[in-house]
Amino acid sequence: MFSRRTGWKLTPNRFTEVERELRAAGKELLDLTVSNPTRVGLPYDAEAIRNALHQPGSIDYVPQPKGLLSAREAVIGYYREQHGISRLDPESLVLNTSTSEGYSYIFRLLCNPDDEILVPKPSYPLFDFLAELEDVRLVSYPLIYDHGWQIDFASLRPAISDRTRAVVVVHPNNPTGSFVSAGEREKLNQLCRGRNLCLIADEVFLDYAHDVRRRPSFADNHEVLTFTLSGLSKISGLPQMKFSWIATSGPREEVSAAIERLEVIADTYLSMNAPIQLAAPRLLDQRKRMQPMLLDRVLTNLRELDRLLAVQKACQRLAVEGGWNAVMRVPATQSDEDLAIDILREASVLVHPGHFYEFPSDGYLIISLLTQPEEFCQGITRLLKHLH
Ligand SMILES: Cc1ncc(COP(=O)(O)O)c(C=O)c1O
Repeated sequence: MFSRRTGWKLTPNRFTEVERELRAAGKELLDLTVSNPTRVGLPYDAEAIRNALHQPGSIDYVPQPKGLLSAREAVIGYYREQHGISRLDPESLVLNTSTSEGYSYIFRLLCNPDDEILVPKPSYPLFDFLAELEDVRLVSYPLIYDHGWQIDFASLRPAISDRTRAVVVVHPNNPTGSFVSAGEREKLNQLCRGRNLCLIADEVFLDYAHDVRRRPSFADNHEVLTFTLSGLSKISGLPQMKFSWIATSGPREEVSAAIERLEVIADTYLSMNAPIQLAAPRLLDQRKRMQPMLLDRVLTNLRELDRLLAVQKACQRLAVEGGWNAVMRVPATQSDEDLAIDILREASVLVHPGHFYEFPSDGYLIISLLTQPEEFCQGITRLLKHLH
Protein backbone atom coordinates (compact mmCIF):
# COMPACT_ATOMS: atom_id res chain seq x y z
CA MET A 1 0.00 0.00 0.00
CA PHE A 2 2.81 2.43 0.82
CA SER A 3 5.77 3.73 -1.11
CA ARG A 4 9.18 2.14 -0.71
CA ARG A 5 10.57 5.50 0.29
CA THR A 6 8.47 5.44 3.45
CA GLY A 7 9.43 1.90 4.41
CA TRP A 8 11.36 3.12 7.42
CA LYS A 9 12.13 1.08 10.48
CA LEU A 10 9.88 2.98 12.84
CA THR A 11 10.84 1.36 16.11
CA PRO A 12 12.88 3.64 18.39
CA ASN A 13 16.61 2.98 18.55
CA ARG A 14 18.03 1.35 21.70
CA PHE A 15 19.28 4.66 23.07
CA THR A 16 15.84 6.28 22.78
CA GLU A 17 14.20 3.19 24.27
CA VAL A 18 16.43 3.38 27.34
CA GLU A 19 15.82 7.11 27.69
CA ARG A 20 12.04 6.54 27.58
CA GLU A 21 12.26 3.70 30.05
CA LEU A 22 14.28 5.80 32.53
CA ARG A 23 12.02 8.83 32.16
CA ALA A 24 8.93 6.64 32.64
CA ALA A 25 10.51 5.34 35.85
CA GLY A 26 10.83 8.94 37.05
CA LYS A 27 14.61 9.06 36.75
CA GLU A 28 16.04 12.58 36.52
CA LEU A 29 18.42 12.83 33.60
CA LEU A 30 21.05 15.47 32.96
CA ASP A 31 20.59 16.37 29.32
CA LEU A 32 23.74 17.12 27.32
CA THR A 33 21.90 16.81 24.01
CA VAL A 34 19.56 19.81 24.08
CA SER A 35 19.37 21.65 20.80
CA ASN A 36 16.23 23.68 21.45
CA PRO A 37 17.28 27.22 22.41
CA THR A 38 13.84 28.04 23.82
CA ARG A 39 14.32 25.43 26.57
CA VAL A 40 17.64 26.41 28.08
CA GLY A 41 16.60 29.21 30.42
CA LEU A 42 17.53 32.17 28.24
CA PRO A 43 15.51 35.37 28.76
CA TYR A 44 13.71 36.03 25.48
CA ASP A 45 12.04 39.40 24.98
CA ALA A 46 8.62 37.75 25.02
CA GLU A 47 6.73 41.00 24.71
CA ALA A 48 8.64 42.15 21.64
CA ILE A 49 8.19 38.74 20.04
CA ARG A 50 4.44 38.66 20.73
CA ASN A 51 4.04 42.26 19.53
CA ALA A 52 5.89 41.43 16.33
CA LEU A 53 3.08 39.02 15.52
CA HIS A 54 0.34 41.64 15.94
CA GLN A 55 0.41 43.13 12.46
CA PRO A 56 -2.85 44.46 10.95
CA GLY A 57 -1.69 43.22 7.53
CA SER A 58 -2.04 39.62 8.75
CA ILE A 59 -5.72 39.72 7.84
CA ASP A 60 -4.88 40.13 4.16
CA TYR A 61 -3.69 37.23 2.01
CA VAL A 62 -1.05 38.11 -0.57
CA PRO A 63 0.02 34.85 -2.21
CA GLN A 64 3.64 35.51 -3.17
CA PRO A 65 5.52 32.33 -4.14
CA LYS A 66 8.93 33.67 -3.10
CA GLY A 67 7.48 35.22 0.05
CA LEU A 68 6.45 38.78 0.83
CA LEU A 69 8.89 41.35 -0.49
CA SER A 70 9.04 43.10 2.91
CA ALA A 71 10.17 39.84 4.54
CA ARG A 72 12.74 39.17 1.82
CA GLU A 73 14.05 42.70 2.23
CA ALA A 74 14.47 42.05 5.95
CA VAL A 75 16.67 39.06 5.06
CA ILE A 76 18.68 41.25 2.66
CA GLY A 77 19.09 43.71 5.55
CA TYR A 78 20.43 40.92 7.75
CA TYR A 79 23.10 39.98 5.18
CA ARG A 80 24.01 43.63 4.68
CA GLU A 81 24.29 44.50 8.39
CA GLN A 82 25.71 41.27 9.71
CA HIS A 83 27.83 40.06 6.82
CA GLY A 84 28.54 43.21 4.79
CA ILE A 85 26.93 41.75 1.67
CA SER A 86 25.43 44.55 -0.35
CA ARG A 87 24.69 42.98 -3.70
CA LEU A 88 22.01 40.46 -2.71
CA ASP A 89 18.83 40.95 -4.68
CA PRO A 90 15.48 40.18 -2.97
CA GLU A 91 14.40 38.55 -6.24
CA SER A 92 17.06 35.87 -5.72
CA LEU A 93 15.57 34.87 -2.34
CA VAL A 94 12.89 32.26 -1.72
CA LEU A 95 11.36 31.99 1.73
CA ASN A 96 10.57 28.67 3.38
CA THR A 97 9.13 27.44 6.62
CA SER A 98 12.35 25.61 7.49
CA THR A 99 15.78 24.85 6.18
CA SER A 100 14.53 21.30 5.70
CA GLU A 101 11.87 22.58 3.32
CA GLY A 102 14.60 24.61 1.59
CA TYR A 103 16.62 21.42 1.02
CA SER A 104 13.61 19.65 -0.42
CA TYR A 105 12.95 22.52 -2.89
CA ILE A 106 16.57 22.45 -4.02
CA PHE A 107 16.67 18.67 -4.37
CA ARG A 108 13.50 18.86 -6.49
CA LEU A 109 15.01 21.63 -8.56
CA LEU A 110 18.28 19.81 -9.27
CA CYS A 111 17.66 16.08 -9.17
CA ASN A 112 15.90 13.41 -11.15
CA PRO A 113 15.21 10.20 -9.22
CA ASP A 114 18.48 8.54 -8.20
CA ASP A 115 20.62 11.56 -8.97
CA GLU A 116 23.29 12.14 -6.38
CA ILE A 117 24.13 14.87 -3.89
CA LEU A 118 27.43 14.92 -2.03
CA VAL A 119 27.19 15.52 1.71
CA PRO A 120 29.88 15.80 4.37
CA LYS A 121 30.43 13.02 6.86
CA PRO A 122 30.18 13.36 9.83
CA SER A 123 27.28 15.77 9.64
CA TYR A 124 23.65 16.50 10.26
CA PRO A 125 21.59 13.28 10.44
CA LEU A 126 18.41 14.62 8.81
CA PHE A 127 20.00 14.59 5.34
CA ASP A 128 19.13 10.92 4.87
CA PHE A 129 15.42 11.53 5.31
CA LEU A 130 15.38 14.72 3.25
CA ALA A 131 17.07 12.95 0.36
CA GLU A 132 14.98 9.78 0.59
CA LEU A 133 11.77 11.76 0.43
CA GLU A 134 12.90 13.32 -2.85
CA ASP A 135 14.28 10.03 -4.27
CA VAL A 136 17.76 11.48 -4.20
CA ARG A 137 20.83 9.41 -3.43
CA LEU A 138 23.29 10.79 -0.92
CA VAL A 139 26.97 10.11 -1.41
CA SER A 140 29.12 11.17 1.49
CA TYR A 141 32.54 12.78 1.35
CA PRO A 142 34.69 12.64 4.47
CA LEU A 143 35.82 15.40 6.72
CA ILE A 144 39.06 14.39 8.35
CA TYR A 145 40.39 15.53 11.68
CA ASP A 146 43.99 16.60 12.02
CA HIS A 147 44.23 19.39 14.62
CA GLY A 148 40.98 20.67 13.13
CA TRP A 149 38.51 19.39 10.56
CA GLN A 150 39.21 19.54 6.85
CA ILE A 151 37.45 18.46 3.69
CA ASP A 152 39.11 15.37 2.28
CA PHE A 153 39.35 16.48 -1.35
CA ALA A 154 41.22 13.31 -2.28
CA SER A 155 38.03 11.40 -1.45
CA LEU A 156 35.59 14.05 -2.62
CA ARG A 157 36.86 14.13 -6.22
CA PRO A 158 36.37 10.41 -7.00
CA ALA A 159 32.98 10.47 -5.27
CA ILE A 160 31.64 12.68 -8.09
CA SER A 161 29.82 10.72 -10.78
CA ASP A 162 27.77 11.55 -13.89
CA ARG A 163 24.74 11.63 -11.62
CA THR A 164 26.15 14.12 -9.10
CA ARG A 165 24.23 17.38 -9.08
CA ALA A 166 25.55 19.31 -6.10
CA VAL A 167 27.91 19.41 -3.16
CA VAL A 168 26.50 20.29 0.26
CA VAL A 169 28.67 22.18 2.75
CA VAL A 170 27.57 22.90 6.29
CA HIS A 171 29.27 26.13 7.37
CA PRO A 172 29.97 25.61 10.24
CA ASN A 173 29.22 21.92 10.29
CA ASN A 174 27.01 20.22 12.86
CA PRO A 175 28.35 18.62 15.04
CA THR A 176 32.06 19.18 14.24
CA GLY A 177 31.75 22.98 14.46
CA SER A 178 34.16 23.42 11.54
CA PHE A 179 33.87 26.22 8.97
CA VAL A 180 34.73 25.85 5.30
CA SER A 181 38.07 27.67 5.00
CA ALA A 182 38.82 30.22 2.25
CA GLY A 183 41.14 27.72 0.56
CA GLU A 184 38.50 24.99 0.68
CA ARG A 185 35.91 27.34 -0.75
CA GLU A 186 38.18 28.12 -3.67
CA LYS A 187 38.81 24.44 -4.33
CA LEU A 188 35.08 23.67 -4.11
CA ASN A 189 34.33 26.43 -6.61
CA GLN A 190 36.95 25.10 -9.01
CA LEU A 191 35.65 21.57 -8.66
CA CYS A 192 32.00 22.56 -9.12
CA ARG A 193 32.81 24.75 -12.12
CA GLY A 194 34.81 22.00 -13.76
CA ARG A 195 32.11 19.35 -13.23
CA ASN A 196 29.05 21.58 -13.69
CA LEU A 197 27.83 21.11 -10.12
CA CYS A 198 26.03 23.47 -7.75
CA LEU A 199 26.92 24.29 -4.17
CA ILE A 200 24.40 24.06 -1.36
CA ALA A 201 25.62 25.89 1.75
CA ASP A 202 23.82 25.28 5.03
CA GLU A 203 24.70 28.29 7.18
CA VAL A 204 22.24 28.01 10.03
CA PHE A 205 25.11 28.33 12.56
CA LEU A 206 27.14 30.91 10.63
CA ASP A 207 26.75 33.63 13.25
CA TYR A 208 28.06 31.41 16.05
CA ALA A 209 31.81 31.58 15.44
CA HIS A 210 33.59 31.02 18.75
CA ASP A 211 36.26 33.63 18.01
CA VAL A 212 35.84 37.19 16.78
CA ARG A 213 36.74 36.30 13.21
CA ARG A 214 33.63 36.51 11.00
CA ARG A 215 33.53 33.83 8.32
CA PRO A 216 32.27 34.89 4.90
CA SER A 217 28.83 33.71 3.89
CA PHE A 218 28.32 31.67 0.72
CA ALA A 219 25.40 34.02 -0.04
CA ASP A 220 28.10 36.15 -1.69
CA ASN A 221 29.57 33.29 -3.72
CA HIS A 222 29.21 34.07 -7.41
CA GLU A 223 31.70 31.59 -8.84
CA VAL A 224 29.16 28.79 -9.30
CA LEU A 225 25.42 28.43 -8.81
CA THR A 226 25.09 28.48 -5.02
CA PHE A 227 22.10 27.98 -2.76
CA THR A 228 22.63 29.33 0.75
CA LEU A 229 20.23 28.18 3.44
CA SER A 230 19.57 29.77 6.78
CA GLY A 231 16.72 30.91 8.99
CA LEU A 232 15.38 32.28 12.24
CA SER A 233 15.64 28.94 13.97
CA LYS A 234 19.31 29.42 14.85
CA ILE A 235 19.96 33.04 13.82
CA SER A 236 17.48 34.44 16.34
CA GLY A 237 17.09 31.28 18.42
CA LEU A 238 13.45 31.06 17.28
CA PRO A 239 12.83 27.57 15.85
CA GLN A 240 9.11 27.83 16.62
CA MET A 241 8.64 30.67 14.11
CA LYS A 242 9.31 28.52 11.07
CA PHE A 243 10.95 31.10 8.84
CA SER A 244 13.95 30.38 6.69
CA TRP A 245 15.24 31.10 3.20
CA ILE A 246 17.21 30.03 0.17
CA ALA A 247 19.54 32.75 -1.15
CA THR A 248 20.63 32.01 -4.71
CA SER A 249 23.87 33.42 -6.09
CA GLY A 250 26.19 32.66 -9.00
CA PRO A 251 26.41 33.35 -12.71
CA ARG A 252 23.50 35.65 -13.58
CA GLU A 253 21.79 33.43 -16.16
CA GLU A 254 21.97 30.35 -13.98
CA VAL A 255 20.54 32.25 -11.03
CA SER A 256 17.61 33.54 -13.14
CA ALA A 257 16.85 30.07 -14.48
CA ALA A 258 17.04 28.54 -11.00
CA ILE A 259 14.84 31.23 -9.49
CA GLU A 260 12.16 30.86 -12.18
CA ARG A 261 11.90 27.17 -11.39
CA LEU A 262 12.15 27.55 -7.62
CA GLU A 263 9.31 30.04 -7.85
CA VAL A 264 7.07 27.41 -9.45
CA ILE A 265 7.99 24.88 -6.75
CA ALA A 266 7.22 27.46 -4.07
CA ASP A 267 3.99 28.46 -5.82
CA THR A 268 2.84 24.84 -5.71
CA TYR A 269 2.99 24.82 -1.92
CA LEU A 270 2.66 28.50 -0.89
CA SER A 271 3.75 27.40 2.56
CA MET A 272 4.61 30.78 4.09
CA ASN A 273 2.07 32.38 6.40
CA ALA A 274 1.36 36.10 6.67
CA PRO A 275 1.85 36.76 10.42
CA ILE A 276 5.39 35.39 10.48
CA GLN A 277 6.41 37.10 7.26
CA LEU A 278 5.13 40.43 8.53
CA ALA A 279 6.93 39.85 11.82
CA ALA A 280 10.16 38.81 10.08
CA PRO A 281 11.99 42.18 10.33
CA ARG A 282 11.44 42.32 14.09
CA LEU A 283 12.11 38.64 14.62
CA LEU A 284 15.36 38.90 12.68
CA ASP A 285 16.21 41.87 14.87
CA GLN A 286 15.90 39.65 17.92
CA ARG A 287 19.23 38.13 16.88
CA LYS A 288 20.95 41.20 18.34
CA ARG A 289 19.67 40.17 21.76
CA MET A 290 19.83 36.39 21.39
CA GLN A 291 23.14 35.80 19.62
CA PRO A 292 25.32 37.34 22.36
CA MET A 293 23.44 35.29 24.98
CA LEU A 294 23.63 32.06 23.03
CA LEU A 295 27.28 32.58 22.25
CA ASP A 296 28.01 33.41 25.85
CA ARG A 297 26.27 30.19 26.94
CA VAL A 298 28.26 28.12 24.46
CA LEU A 299 31.59 29.69 25.41
CA THR A 300 30.91 29.48 29.16
CA ASN A 301 30.18 25.77 28.82
CA LEU A 302 33.19 25.22 26.61
CA ARG A 303 35.47 26.86 29.19
CA GLU A 304 33.93 24.72 31.93
CA LEU A 305 34.41 21.63 29.80
CA ASP A 306 38.08 22.46 29.29
CA ARG A 307 38.55 23.09 33.01
CA LEU A 308 37.09 19.66 33.83
CA LEU A 309 39.00 17.92 31.05
CA ALA A 310 42.31 19.42 32.16
CA VAL A 311 42.44 17.29 35.32
CA GLN A 312 41.85 13.88 33.73
CA LYS A 313 43.17 11.72 30.92
CA ALA A 314 40.19 9.56 29.94
CA CYS A 315 38.99 11.81 27.15
CA GLN A 316 39.60 15.00 25.20
CA ARG A 317 37.54 17.30 23.11
CA LEU A 318 38.24 18.02 19.48
CA ALA A 319 38.94 21.53 18.23
CA VAL A 320 35.76 23.45 17.48
CA GLU A 321 35.37 26.77 15.65
CA GLY A 322 31.66 27.46 15.86
CA GLY A 323 28.14 26.18 16.48
CA TRP A 324 26.42 24.74 19.53
CA ASN A 325 28.12 21.35 19.98
CA ALA A 326 31.41 19.82 21.02
CA VAL A 327 32.85 16.47 20.02
CA MET A 328 34.50 14.36 22.70
CA ARG A 329 37.10 11.75 21.85
CA VAL A 330 36.65 8.82 24.25
CA PRO A 331 38.24 5.37 24.53
CA ALA A 332 36.69 3.11 21.88
CA THR A 333 36.35 0.09 24.12
CA GLN A 334 32.78 -0.56 22.97
CA SER A 335 30.39 0.85 20.37
CA ASP A 336 29.47 4.51 20.86
CA GLU A 337 25.84 3.51 21.18
CA ASP A 338 26.62 1.00 23.94
CA LEU A 339 28.76 3.59 25.68
CA ALA A 340 26.04 6.27 25.47
CA ILE A 341 23.51 3.75 26.83
CA ASP A 342 25.84 2.82 29.71
CA ILE A 343 26.34 6.50 30.52
CA LEU A 344 22.59 7.00 30.45
CA ARG A 345 21.83 4.01 32.68
CA GLU A 346 24.68 4.39 35.12
CA ALA A 347 25.31 8.14 35.27
CA SER A 348 21.84 9.39 34.19
CA VAL A 349 23.47 11.64 31.61
CA LEU A 350 22.22 12.00 28.03
CA VAL A 351 24.93 12.35 25.38
CA HIS A 352 24.72 11.46 21.70
CA PRO A 353 26.87 8.66 20.29
CA GLY A 354 29.04 9.71 17.34
CA HIS A 355 27.40 7.18 15.06
CA PHE A 356 24.17 9.29 15.08
CA TYR A 357 26.22 11.73 13.00
CA GLU A 358 28.07 9.02 11.06
CA PHE A 359 31.47 9.38 12.64
CA PRO A 360 33.89 7.08 10.84
CA SER A 361 34.62 4.92 13.87
CA ASP A 362 33.70 4.42 17.50
CA GLY A 363 35.19 6.65 20.17
CA TYR A 364 33.16 9.84 19.76
CA LEU A 365 30.44 11.40 21.87
CA ILE A 366 28.60 14.60 20.98
CA ILE A 367 27.57 17.07 23.65
CA SER A 368 25.46 20.17 23.39
CA LEU A 369 26.95 23.42 24.67
CA LEU A 370 23.48 24.93 25.16
CA THR A 371 22.63 23.06 28.34
CA GLN A 372 22.18 25.29 31.42
CA PRO A 373 25.63 25.75 33.02
CA GLU A 374 24.88 24.00 36.34
CA GLU A 375 23.39 20.99 34.63
CA PHE A 376 26.25 21.05 32.12
CA CYS A 377 28.92 21.04 34.83
CA GLN A 378 27.22 18.23 36.75
CA GLY A 379 26.64 16.26 33.58
CA ILE A 380 30.25 16.51 32.43
CA THR A 381 31.52 15.69 35.93
CA ARG A 382 29.41 12.52 35.99
CA LEU A 383 30.37 11.65 32.42
CA LEU A 384 34.08 11.93 33.18
CA LYS A 385 33.69 9.92 36.35
CA HIS A 386 31.98 7.20 34.37
CA LEU A 387 34.69 7.19 31.70
CA HIS A 388 37.39 7.11 34.35
C1 LIG B 1 23.09 21.86 10.03
C2 LIG B 1 21.63 22.08 10.25
N1 LIG B 1 20.86 22.51 9.24
C3 LIG B 1 19.54 22.73 9.42
C4 LIG B 1 18.94 22.53 10.64
C5 LIG B 1 17.46 22.74 10.79
O1 LIG B 1 17.10 24.03 10.62
P1 LIG B 1 15.56 24.41 10.53
O2 LIG B 1 15.05 24.50 11.91
O3 LIG B 1 15.56 25.72 9.82
O4 LIG B 1 14.89 23.36 9.69
C6 LIG B 1 19.70 22.07 11.71
C7 LIG B 1 19.06 21.83 13.00
O5 LIG B 1 19.67 21.51 13.98
C8 LIG B 1 21.07 21.84 11.51
O6 LIG B 1 21.84 21.39 12.51
